[in-house]
Amino acid sequence: MKASRNSVLAVLAVVLVAAIAIGSRIMVWSGGEHATASIGGSFTLVDGDGKTVTDADFRGKWMLIYFGYTFCPDVCPTALSSVAAAMDKLSAAERFKLTPIFITVDPTRDTPAVMKDYAAAFHPKMVGLTGSEAQVAQVMKAYKVYGAKAKAKGTSEDATTYTVDHSSILYLVGPDGRFVAHFPHGTTVDDLTNALKKFLK
Ligand code: NI
Repeated sequence: MKASRNSVLAVLAVVLVAAIAIGSRIMVWSGGEHATASIGGSFTLVDGDGKTVTDADFRGKWMLIYFGYTFCPDVCPTALSSVAAAMDKLSAAERFKLTPIFITVDPTRDTPAVMKDYAAAFHPKMVGLTGSEAQVAQVMKAYKVYGAKAKAKGTSEDATTYTVDHSSILYLVGPDGRFVAHFPHGTTVDDLTNALKKFLK
């Protein structure tokens, strides 16, 4: 009786250890899957020349993606200036591996030509992308970007003067197209540069 009880306990102990081992393995797996599967993914948009492009066109290079709109009074210019400054602090070899991308959340006003000029004004390597309402909505959803038209200030009903409230986050995507890291608004140029250098080495 005593012997069989001990063997039952021994079996239970083995089962318990195995369960913990399997459980922690599953947690690691699901954690990894979750981190890569929840943000980013494929998109189809339109470049500054009016040509359709997809995420696959940027494979082989890192992408540093920012979402905003060209009429933005201060948030977007600040963020894009930081990207441009970080680009200039990278070595030529590091810079070669990175494509900074600005995707509009306001495709109505941000036409391909507008996006091309605006992105180029910040950095010659910066790519401005727009698209149809549906295309832009799709990529915003993939990157969990918030964007909502706000009412124009004052009493003007001018449909061209509205602002767009939007999240301000930089997304770093690897050469394989997988989301790797994000940088919150307000990340200093030095912090952004140093973080990029770690990935681009
Ligand atoms: Ni903005």
